[in-house]
Amino acid sequence: MDFKENINKNKLPKHIAIIMDGNGRWAKQRGKERIFGHENGIKAVRETVEAAGELGIPNLTFYAFSTENWCRPKMEVDTLMSLLVQAIKNETPELLEKGVKLAAIGDIDSLPQDCIKELNEAIETTKNNTRLKVTVALSYSSQWEILNAVKNIASQVKENKLNPEDINKQLFQKHLQTNGTPDPDLLIRTSGELRISNFLLWQIAYSELYFTPVLWPDFRKKHFYQAVLDYQRRERRFGKT
Ligand code: IPE
Ligand code: IPE
Ligand code: MG
Repeated sequence: MDFKENINKNKLPKHIAIIMDGNGRWAKQRGKERIFGHENGIKAVRETVEAAGELGIPNLTFYAFSTENWCRPKMEVDTLMSLLVQAIKNETPELLEKGVKLAAIGDIDSLPQDCIKELNEAIETTKNNTRLKVTVALSYSSQWEILNAVKNIASQVKENKLNPEDINKQLFQKHLQTNGTPDPDLLIRTSGELRISNFLLWQIAYSELYFTPVLWPDFRKKHFYQAVLDYQRRERRFGKT
């Protein structure tokens, strides 16, 4: 079956968020170190970005490194960070050519200096692109993001710039790092784990969830198309009848 041909171009999700999971297990299955899995996950990111661009999906968010991932062995964290720097360096020309605008959410200041520099350069270089916005979540956790929003709102109240009665959904959303990007219509998690792991908790209130056993380094365009097709078969009710 040609999954791509069956996708309804008039019913595309406007935002797909992805929890890229299973790199370590993929490597282990091959008798290699976990980092081998991370290295091989880059192709899956490339394929996903291409597939989204070809379909005309305007927003993608990748969960690349969580706040909790800092607790992994230093060796793995260090290698992941240098992989990230390399990947941004290598992929930026391609992103530029394909009309991709890069963005980042998370505690970016907590990343290594070279990582921050590479990331900021790539964000600056691609800032005028409009075809597809790719957001990378780095040192990100949803609880961290929500707490920051609460702190900002609380200090505005304290400074008499904001009335507590005026705190509503719209205002709260403005204080999240995802401000300006529509909430995900579809959330994909690879590797068979059935959990959210502190990702976009507020934003996925009404997202469709799609779990696949495919390990992230094996994720290809056809898997992405399958997820979109599955999404299009669902009836979204948003609490109505
Ligand atoms: C996802 O793969 C990548 C990151 C979380 C950085 P994992 O490294 O979590 O791989 P598994 O889940 O242990 O197989
Ligand atoms: C979630 O994967 C974080 C990222 C994909 C970056 P984890 O592998 O860290 O999540 P858990 O530990 O299985 O919940
Ligand atoms: Mg994992």
